[in-house]
Amino acid sequence: SAEVVPQAPEDPMFGLLRAFKADEYPTKVDVSIGAYRDNNAKPWVLPVVKKADEILRNDPNLDHEYAPIAGIASFTSKAAELILGADSPAIKEKRVTSVQTISGTGAVHLGALFLSKFFPGTKKVYVSNPTWANHNQIFSNVAVPVAQYPYFSKQTKGLDFDGMKAALSEAPERSVILLHACAHNPTGVDPTLDQWKEIAAIIKEKNHFPFFDSAYQGFASGDLLKDNAAVRYFVEQGFELVVAQSFAKNFGLYGERAGCFHFVTGPAPDASETATRVASQLAILQRSEISNPPLYGARIVSTVLNDDQLFAEWQENLRTMSSRIIEMRKLLRAKLEELGTPGTWKHITEQIGMFSFTGLTEAQALKIREEAHVYMTKNGRISMAGLNTNNIDYFAKAIDKVVRE
Ligand code: LMR
Repeated sequence: SAEVVPQAPEDPMFGLLRAFKADEYPTKVDVSIGAYRDNNAKPWVLPVVKKADEILRNDPNLDHEYAPIAGIASFTSKAAELILGADSPAIKEKRVTSVQTISGTGAVHLGALFLSKFFPGTKKVYVSNPTWANHNQIFSNVAVPVAQYPYFSKQTKGLDFDGMKAALSEAPERSVILLHACAHNPTGVDPTLDQWKEIAAIIKEKNHFPFFDSAYQGFASGDLLKDNAAVRYFVEQGFELVVAQSFAKNFGLYGERAGCFHFVTGPAPDASETATRVASQLAILQRSEISNPPLYGARIVSTVLNDDQLFAEWQENLRTMSSRIIEMRKLLRAKLEELGTPGTWKHITEQIGMFSFTGLTEAQALKIREEAHVYMTKNGRISMAGLNTNNIDYFAKAIDKVVRE
C-alpha cells in the first residue's frame, strides 16, 4: 500500500521560488531560478515571440491535430542547423537524427533513456562538479550511475582545468561525459576554445561519449555561433555525440517546453543508415513516454527560425537580454569593489550567462535570505537576471554585510 511511500523533500529550486513568492518583504530580491527578468524584475515576452504568436493566431489553416512522433519537422530541422551550424558536415551527410522534446529536461531524459537501453557497455555518466541538480536525478531515474569530474576551482573561482582533464583521463573507457555547451549552470564558467580542444582530445583517446546540454545558445554571449563553438568543434572532429537543446531561455518560452534531442552519428560510410535506425528506436521511446510533443512552443520557434527577418529580430532580442546581464555583472562588481567588500570580485565579470557563482557559502546564502530577503540557491549561485538598476545597491550592500559577518 502507499503507506510505505516515504516523504520526499521539495525540489530545492522550485521550493525557493515558492518561498520568495510568499515573502511579503517590500525589497525582497529573487536571484534564484534561471529565468530572465527585465530591468523592472518582470518576465519579458520577447517581441519576436509576440510577432510569431500573432502570425500563428491569424493562420486559418492551423489546427490542433497531433504532431508527428518526432515532432514538427520544420522545427527540428532548423533546431539542428542552429546548434550544429547550417553548413554542418553531419547535416549534409544525413548523420543527424532530431526529436522534438519537452524542453531541455525532456531531451536529457530521452538521451539518458536511449543510452541506458542501447549502450550496454556504459558504466557511468560523468557530470561536472557542480552541475544542474536535475542532471543527477534524470540519469539516476533510468539507472545510469552518475559520477563527477572536478570543474570549479574555489581558489580562482574559475575552471579547475587540470582536475577536469585528470578525471576524464582516469574515467573508464566509453564513459558518457556530460558537457554544458555554453554558460555553465551553476558556475557561469566555460572552457576556452583551446581548452575545449584539449578536452575533445582526451574524450577521443578514451572513447568516451560526449553528451552536450545546450540551454543558453545566444543567451550567453548574444552570438549564436560563439555559443555553439564547442559543439561544432566536436562534430568537426568526427565524434558520435548527442545534444539536448532547450529553447526555454533563449526564446523566453520557459513554460511552453520547446526543446530538441539530436543524435549525431560519426562519419562512417553507413552513418546515415545508422542514423535511420537510431531514429526508429527514438520514435518507440518517445511514443511510449509522451506519444508526441506539444505544438505551441515549437511552432513559435519554427516560425522565427524559418523567416530571415524574424530570425534577425530574434538575434536582436538575444542581444538585449545578454547585454543587460553583462551590464549587471559590471555594475555588481563595481559596487562590491567600491564598498571594499572583503574578497575579490573579478569572477563576477569573467563568468558568463544567466548565473554567477558568487563564492558565498551555504551559511551565508541562508543568512542573506533571512536577513535581507535575498533568495539565492544554497550553493551561492545567483541568477544575474534578477538584478536591475533598482535593486543592485540593496543587493550589493546585503552581500557586503553577510561577507563581513
Ligand atoms: C535553473 O537552473 O534555475 C533553471 O535551469 C531552472 C531549472 O529548471 O532548474
